Amino acid sequence: MRLPSGTGHSVRGITSASLAALALLCLMVAAGVAWIAGQLQETSSALVRDAESLRLVTLIELHLLDYQRLAVFLDDPVAVAERQEVRRRLIAALDEAGRYSAADGEVELVERARGDITAYVERRRLLEQRGLGPLDIQRQVRPLLSRALSDLDELYEVNRREVAGAYARAQQVGAVFIAAAVLTAVLAAILLLIAALAIRHMLLRPILGLRETIDRFRSGEPAAQADEQAPRELSDIARAFNEMSAELGRQKARQLAFIAGVAHDLRNPLTALQFGVDALKAQDTRMDAGAHDTLTLLGRQLNHLERMVDDLMQTSTIEAGELVLEPSVFDLREAVDAVVSLYRPTVPTRRIDVQLQGEPAFVRADRMRIEQVVGNLLNNAIKYSPPESPIEIEVEQSDGRARLAVVDHGVGIRAEEIEDIFRPFWRGTATAERSGTGLGLSVARKIVSAHGGSISVQSVPGAGSVFRLDIPIADAADLRRQAI
Ligand SMILES: Nc1ncnc2c1ncn2[C@@H]1O[C@H](COP(=O)(O)OP(=O)(O)OP(=O)(O)O)[C@@H](O)[C@H]1O
Ligand SMILES: [Mg+2]
Repeated sequence: MRLPSGTGHSVRGITSASLAALALLCLMVAAGVAWIAGQLQETSSALVRDAESLRLVTLIELHLLDYQRLAVFLDDPVAVAERQEVRRRLIAALDEAGRYSAADGEVELVERARGDITAYVERRRLLEQRGLGPLDIQRQVRPLLSRALSDLDELYEVNRREVAGAYARAQQVGAVFIAAAVLTAVLAAILLLIAALAIRHMLLRPILGLRETIDRFRSGEPAAQADEQAPRELSDIARAFNEMSAELGRQKARQLAFIAGVAHDLRNPLTALQFGVDALKAQDTRMDAGAHDTLTLLGRQLNHLERMVDDLMQTSTIEAGELVLEPSVFDLREAVDAVVSLYRPTVPTRRIDVQLQGEPAFVRADRMRIEQVVGNLLNNAIKYSPPESPIEIEVEQSDGRARLAVVDHGVGIRAEEIEDIFRPFWRGTATAERSGTGLGLSVARKIVSAHGGSISVQSVPGAGSVFRLDIPIADAADLRRQAI
């Protein structure tokens, strides 16, 4: 039965919730903007209306005064016609003012002003028809004119107050708009921050964790397990990865057991064959040259086979995590020297320059294994470079590490193959014609890692390669013990 795992959320749920929250935020902002736009529109139209009313009151007052001024020229037909026009405009302005007045008090005031102005105009017309002189008429209509003017003053004052009020309201709405905009921006920033943190915590963290586990798995940690505490879809991927890596681990263990078994079973007959060949060569002195050469060739091939079987056994031991180290304190320079002395007679024409200057590079390590690693590197350098090209080996001690570099001027390694060369049984395309099992470097890297060190390579195809190795130097206590 499969137990439920994960955080109970799903990627789809999280993204839907984030989108819904974003949509809600947008909706709220849109509603707020619409409300404020409505307020602004209302205030601005009130402002326009009140300003227009104010203009009309002023206009009525001007027309009225004009009417009064022209009334003096009773005998001048031009002035009379002009007065008729002014009267028409006066009435039109009064009608328009009536349309613009909205407040109750204002409507009544306009009506009152209209009544008083009409009374003034009518009174004047009557008196003119009776034939009274301009001064008499003036005297009689003055109170009516004063009343009309005072109505207009009052109307002017009301409208002025309304304009001031509308202006203040517009300012208020403006201030509310700015405050709301700032508040919305702050709120949106906080919400986005919370959403980003939540998404980072719920989605990004598990994804990065998964990637890191895959990287660990890829770089040789077969037991790497992904955290299944994640949103549903990611936890499904993590579980699938964990099941896959566990299955690969089981497969690998079966393969290793098989390899170890085969290698072990081959070891004894090979040793017996080698003994047989050695014994034959030693016993029969009358053997002809051809047979002797065949035996020598057989012996060499058997040697090669034995080495391959040893590599296979070591690989299975190391891969199964059963590598046992037998550490001692020694100078890496001496170990390197010993390996080079062993190899020199096998390639007598080859120049192998060894630079061992500087202080001794004491390390606490399994000497046999380290010599095996140096041997693998030197063997590769010899194998994958032309016989006339020199090989340089440098040993030094710096920053608490003993460092070794093996430099050759051979075929080099293609950039895309650089990491592959450390994989078991991997062989380069450029070196396929040379014999080998593809185990040397993988064994070397495992041995160096087990010593807390690292091994790396820089290479230029066609120009050569530099293999670098470093392991920690022995600590003071080890050195004291060594001195005793
Ligand atoms: N110095 C080098 N120059 C060029 N290619 C190299 C060098 N060293 C290693 N390689 C490449 O890396 C591959 C793996 O090397 P490794 O030593 O693991 O195996 P091998 O040499 O093929 O076989 P063996 O198990 O006998 O050592 C080689 O096949 C070769 O293609
Ligand atoms: Mg090799």
